[in-house]
Amino acid sequence: MNKLSNINSYLKYRLVAKSSHGIHSPFVFKFVTELLESFNEDYYQFTALADIRKSLLKDNSVLTITDFGAGSKVFKDNKRKVSDLVRYGTSKQKFSELYFKLVNFTNSQFIVELGTSIGLNTLYLSKANSNSTIYTLEGCPELAKFSKNLFEKNNAKNVYLINDTFEKAFPKLLNEIPKIDLLYIDGNHNYKSTLEYFKSGLQKKHHHSVFIFDDINWNDEMKKAWSEIKDHPEVTLSIDLFSVGIIFFRKEQKEKEHFVLKY
Ligand SMILES: C[S@@+](CC[C@H](N)C(=O)[O-])C[C@H]1O[C@@H](n2cnc3c(N)ncnc32)[C@H](O)[C@@H]1O
Repeated sequence: MNKLSNINSYLKYRLVAKSSHGIHSPFVFKFVTELLESFNEDYYQFTALADIRKSLLKDNSVLTITDFGAGSKVFKDNKRKVSDLVRYGTSKQKFSELYFKLVNFTNSQFIVELGTSIGLNTLYLSKANSNSTIYTLEGCPELAKFSKNLFEKNNAKNVYLINDTFEKAFPKLLNEIPKIDLLYIDGNHNYKSTLEYFKSGLQKKHHHSVFIFDDINWNDEMKKAWSEIKDHPEVTLSIDLFSVGIIFFRKEQKEKEHFVLKY
C-alpha cells in the first residue's frame, strides 16, 4: 500500500469517525466516555509508566533483531537502538493507556499478547491489574532477554514471557490456559497469519472476551484480514480506531454492530 492511499484511508476515517455524541448503544457509549474520552483520568501508574518510556527513549544500546514477522517499514537492517524500537516498534502511549483501561473495563484476568518487542506495552497490561496473568510471546531472543530484564526491574511479577514463535507457542499456550479474557495481536502483520491467530484465539474466548488487533490499516492484507474478522459470525461488536481494531463477542448485543470511533 503506498503512502497516498494510506493518507486517503486516514482522511476517510477522520470523516466518518464518531465521538460519544449520537451513540445509542449503552455499552459503546460507556466504552467511549470511559476509555476514549476520559483524558483527565488520573491513574497514578500512568506517570510511572510514562517515565519508563522516557528513560527507554534515551537508551541507545543496540539489539540484534531476529525478524519473525512481516518486517518493518522503517528499519532496513537487523540492528536496532532501543530508543528507535520505542519510537517506531512499540504501541503509542495513548494506545497502551487505552489497553490498560480496557483490562480494568473488562476485568480481564487471562491476557495474551502476541508480540512483546521490548516489553513496554506488556508493562501497561501488567500494571493494570496485579491479579491478572499476562502471557506475552516473542520470537526474537534479544528482545525477549531485554523485556525479561525490564519486567524484573519493574517488579512485573504477573508477566509470563514465552520466547518462541507464535506458530509454536500460541497453540501450546491455548492448551494450558482455561480462557482468554483479552487477546492482543500485534505481530506478523499479514492476512494469513492474522486470520490464523484470530481463529486459534476463538477456541478460548467467551462472551465477555475482547480481542485487539494492531495495525489494521498497515497494508492491504491487514485491511482484508480486519474486514473478515469483524464480519465473522461470532463477533457481535467491532470498533475501528483506524490503527487499531477491537472486537467483542457479547451476547447482550442482539444485532451485530460496527463503529468507527475517534481516538
Ligand atoms: C510490533 S512488535 C510488538 C509491539 C508491542 N506489542 C507493543 O505494543 O509495543 C511485534 C513483535 O512481534 C514479534 N513477532 C512477529 N512475528 C512473530 C512470530 N511469528 N513469532 C514470534 N514473534 C513474532 C517481533 O519480533 C516483534 O518484536
